[in-house]
Amino acid sequence: MAGLTLRDVRKSYGETQVMHGVDLDIEDGEFVVFVGPSGCGKSTLLRMIAGLEEISDGTVAIGDEVVNEVAAAKRGVAMVFQTYALYPHMTVYKNMAFGLKQAKTDPAEIDRRVRDAAEILQITDYLDRSPRNLSGGQRQRVAIGRAIVRDPKVFLFDEPLSNLDAALRVQTRLEIARLHQRLETTMIYVTHDQVEAMTLADKIVVLRDGRIEQVGSPIALYDTPANAFVAQFIGSPKMNFFAADDLTGNAAKALGRDIAVSHHVGLRPEHLVPAKGAKAVVEGRLELVENLGEYALVHLVTATGVEFIAKTEKPPVEAKGETIRFGIAPDLVHVFDKESGARL
Ligand SMILES: Nc1ncnc2c1ncn2[C@@H]1O[C@H](COP(=O)(O)OP(=O)(O)O)[C@@H](O)[C@H]1O
Ligand SMILES: [Mg+2]
Repeated sequence: MAGLTLRDVRKSYGETQVMHGVDLDIEDGEFVVFVGPSGCGKSTLLRMIAGLEEISDGTVAIGDEVVNEVAAAKRGVAMVFQTYALYPHMTVYKNMAFGLKQAKTDPAEIDRRVRDAAEILQITDYLDRSPRNLSGGQRQRVAIGRAIVRDPKVFLFDEPLSNLDAALRVQTRLEIARLHQRLETTMIYVTHDQVEAMTLADKIVVLRDGRIEQVGSPIALYDTPANAFVAQFIGSPKMNFFAADDLTGNAAKALGRDIAVSHHVGLRPEHLVPAKGAKAVVEGRLELVENLGEYALVHLVTATGVEFIAKTEKPPVEAKGETIRFGIAPDLVHVFDKESGARL
């Protein structure tokens, strides 16, 4: 087991720089999630840690050892990909044993490790099957098993659930969380899905365009996003944004703070509550209601034309086209500088 230290890590493909100096500390045993939109550099960063991609500049250390020049196989990391990349002509057992056999591990030791991993992942019954006769979820477990048998210092996952259907994604996500609880090994997990990030991570790293936007616990990112990008990336439905003009005339008073034209005001859908008179900070014409039973997503538009969503326990009594007013607890209001996006 080991922590990691990334210092000013950069990556260029030819003339194009895609990672612009990443600094990051990962504690031993931590579950860290890299999250961000497609193309922001999550896989590139993970592959540099794995040794599958050259590090153009800066250093990556695993434990105390700088690994820039260390071959992938010697870094003590094991990687699980979105595509399971199993050998189709080998049984599950042989797929899991393959890497250890290559490394000339003692056969009795290989057998013990494969059976232990199969037990953890509940795939003991499939050990003699060919991958072709497994479901997507089972194949991904074999791929995870192949990583476990190597007893790595660090597990690396690159969008491992993306090829699974919704129900299996939730189930496998839980299994990965349990695996981490059980093994207590450092795990770095890449996803574009903020729900996976929120539910799995000890620490989330939000990336955009090859830079870190914020590092923190899921709740820290949700409660105190450092900037407008993180605010809108974490949380579903995403945080509503308003300019001063879009709010009710007495919003500043109701919120007890100045709201300048240079500000964006962020209000999360789940924090908006129907309000009367002076307490209302925003109002909108009802456009559409999505009733999910457990809650309703109420789609509205302000008089100034800004669309927003309120997440309410019950669907509204108002009809389409009617105006609904909402208030919010002042401490749940987020204010950002329009130009820099920084939280104020
Ligand atoms: N082999 C490559 N050659 C050139 N550009 C690449 C290569 N691999 C990735 N990139 C670019 O690097 C950026 C980050 O890609 P990637 O790490 O795959 O993003 P993510 O995993 O976050 O979706 C993207 O702009 C992508 O086009
Ligand atoms: Mg990727």
